Amino acid sequence: MNRADLRHMAEAEQERQERFRCRIMVCAGTPCLSAGAQTVLDSLRKALAESRLDAEIEAVASGCMGPCSRGPLVKVRQQGKKEIIFERVTPELARQILLSLAKGRRPPTVSALPPDFPFLARQMKVVLANSGSINPERVEEYVAAGGYGALAHALHELTPDDVCREVSVSGLRGRGGAGYPTGVKWNLARKANGERKYVVANGDEGDPGAYMDRSIMESDPHRILEGMALAGYAIGAEQGFIYVRGEYYLAGRRLEAAIRAAERAGLLGSRVFGSNFNFRIDIRTGAGAFVCGEETSLMASIMGRRGQPRQRPPYPAQQGLWGCPTLINNVETLATVPAIMGKGGNWYAGIGSAGSKGTKVYALAGQVEIAGLIEVPMGTTLREVVFDIGGGIPGGKRFKAAQSGGPSGGCIPSGELDTPLDYESMQRVGTIMGSGGLIIMDETSCMPDVASFFLDFCRDESCGKCVPCRVGTVEMHRLLRRITGGTATMDDLAKLEELCELVGAASLCGLGMTAPNPVLSTLRYFRDEYVEHISRHRCAAGVCSMAEVPAGPEQEALLHAMGGAGEEA
Ligand SMILES: Cc1cc2nc3c(=O)[nH]c(=O)nc-3n(C[C@H](O)[C@H](O)[C@H](O)COP(=O)(O)O)c2cc1C
Ligand code: SF4
Ligand code: SF4
Ligand code: FES
Repeated sequence: MNRADLRHMAEAEQERQERFRCRIMVCAGTPCLSAGAQTVLDSLRKALAESRLDAEIEAVASGCMGPCSRGPLVKVRQQGKKEIIFERVTPELARQILLSLAKGRRPPTVSALPPDFPFLARQMKVVLANSGSINPERVEEYVAAGGYGALAHALHELTPDDVCREVSVSGLRGRGGAGYPTGVKWNLARKANGERKYVVANGDEGDPGAYMDRSIMESDPHRILEGMALAGYAIGAEQGFIYVRGEYYLAGRRLEAAIRAAERAGLLGSRVFGSNFNFRIDIRTGAGAFVCGEETSLMASIMGRRGQPRQRPPYPAQQGLWGCPTLINNVETLATVPAIMGKGGNWYAGIGSAGSKGTKVYALAGQVEIAGLIEVPMGTTLREVVFDIGGGIPGGKRFKAAQSGGPSGGCIPSGELDTPLDYESMQRVGTIMGSGGLIIMDETSCMPDVASFFLDFCRDESCGKCVPCRVGTVEMHRLLRRITGGTATMDDLAKLEELCELVGAASLCGLGMTAPNPVLSTLRYFRDEYVEHISRHRCAAGVCSMAEVPAGPEQEALLHAMGGAGEEA
């Protein structure tokens, strides 16, 4: 494959698509598939074959279109006309749509989203530019959309230093959680000495409620491969690994197919685009441990060892896989790079806010009218996301808080709805951007219960290597259960706060260091709820059953003497 071949591939695919007067895209992302998208696609293909319309109309499986809670989604693209997206499509509705298209009539309006549907109109798609618009299982469609052009350009026109510089200029920061400047990391890996170097794409994504990375891997796998190849060229690596959690079966399958297709087309492998650059990518499947998303555990897992973190330094860029310099980036970070290299670092740096450049993908979930995947410029406010894009809170209920950053994060209360979603502003209100999970809560959520949910998660996922996290998360969860169960004292609350400090300060890795965050942040804004649970045995949200009779001092003493302190079994 050379640059002319790439151009031919793109043109041939564009011509092929233009031969159809209409393309019907059926979303084949996991949420839509679980809502029945495969049956919709099968029935469309059957009807097309039976009516011999398959030469004029093509039914295509695409990636995620965004409003996942309204699935199955179907997008109709007719030449010279505005595209129409239909929600909650049944096989019957799909046949009706097809019938109207066959007869040249306007498709039915029932279930059609309005052309200016705010959920879609208010977004800015960079990483998700192809999601829902191409078939992720065909490399030709990625190439026809401009894919691999940035890699071809870099290999022929730019030095590895140029690529690192462009990434630095863009201001891109790691989307895996910590927001570390990507250009700095690439430069470190570039300058590190090693016999071999590696690039790793982190697709472990363990935060409850988050599925941005899964969706990118399912919807546009070649974008990640291209980002990895650009990283490989920039730092001098010939081997990449994508670490995907085992539960992400579809993502793993599509990535595997994409790697094979790219290799067949000469876009990966030896002498890419006729240059001296060789790059191979392999997939490593994780077993679903949250801690394996942490970079040092992830590397241990790739090397076939137990997935436990180790002390840093040395950082992976200095000493990573098999002792060699290793660049680890989140899947979304890497998927951003082709756009940066294609349009320029300055273009990307022009989007977003002062310290947080570009766009960010969020998985909007919880008590919100439209849940799904969105991409907005950094600095978009939480209010815009929840109310303008997400359509507000269902059932006329009140917005209470948004949980961001998963178990390492915290909540943003209603008083801070105008917080811009960027690294600095989120930190100011006591939470973190994290990887992009946004769980919206209404007045029916109880904040001590929310904190208890996340602590339960951390307790379960603690790898047990260090005492503060292994023992501390168990004890913190026990105290929270006492609070939500109505048996806690104010001393328990003081003990909980003390433990937050200790576990945060003394744990070995980010899991333990940040495990107290959901407690600290709910305490910061909703302390009265904790106090109400303790002193009045009342849960205003009606979530906690308060079934256990509060123990008085004598009962406490008796229970203690019997070997239990009144806690749950
Ligand atoms: C407990 C824990 C879990 C993590 N899980 C993930 C994950 O699932 N995906 C991810 O990209 N980063 C995760 N990280 C962050 C990684 O260690 C690492 O910083 C990141 O992959 C670097 O990529 P970036 O610079 O592109 O953000 C996790 C960190 C911790 C402490
Ligand atoms: S003392 Fe216990 S926790 Fe520590 S290494 Fe040995 S078995 Fe593991
Ligand atoms: S902080 Fe928790 S997850 Fe991290 S090494 Fe210690 S025990 Fe393991
Ligand atoms: S998976 Fe279909 S819209 Fe997200």
